[in-house]
Amino acid sequence: MALTFFFSSAAGAQMMHGHGHSHGADGTGHDEVTMPGLRGLDATEQESLDMEVLFRNFKGITRTVENLPNGIRTVTVSDDPDVMDALINHTVGMIDRVGQKRDPKVFIQSPTLDIFFARAESIRSEVEVTDEGLVVVQTSEDPEVVAALHIHAAEVSDMVNRGMHAVHERMMQRNSN
Ligand code: HEM
Repeated sequence: MALTFFFSSAAGAQMMHGHGHSHGADGTGHDEVTMPGLRGLDATEQESLDMEVLFRNFKGITRTVENLPNGIRTVTVSDDPDVMDALINHTVGMIDRVGQKRDPKVFIQSPTLDIFFARAESIRSEVEVTDEGLVVVQTSEDPEVVAALHIHAAEVSDMVNRGMHAVHERMMQRNSN
């Protein structure tokens, strides 16, 4: 069985709300304090908690990225159902945000994301949950957006491989330039 979400416009992106992957909406399951850097100027507690689950469990996540001439195809997966839930929530929610140009402004987020929020209408996104894992295909006709999709996919892979260390290194490199 495959669960598919298509995003090609802000209106389309809104349709997926309520697809049943959110957890903790009733306040159960999470009583920890969110890592401060994962809060955002426009991020909900649940969004920050989902990112925290991803960072805390990066060792159990695997991922492959295929760079397409006009975008990316990624497959990301975890054996842990809670991590998978957070991953699906995060990805569907964030791509939905891009469609609506609602930048969460998470304190440690990558500046690579800026162009997605600025040029959201040029990105077509498909998110599918299959036996392989979470499959994301994003394409664009805008070469600068395509370049950013390639960079961002590699940044996510770096986080999957090295967790928060990848973020700290990226932030230090930028600050030293
Ligand atoms: C600093 C914290 C993070 C922020 C602010 C963030 C934000 C975002 C945003 C805005 C998108 C949508 C981008 C687009 O439409 O192309 C996205 C996509 C995605 N994020 Fe995150 N993210 C963070 C950390 C993580 C972590 C730790 C993972 C670990 C698995 C992750 C996995 C993904 C995946 C799989 C996608 C779909 C795009 C792809 O597969 O390359 N993110 N994220």
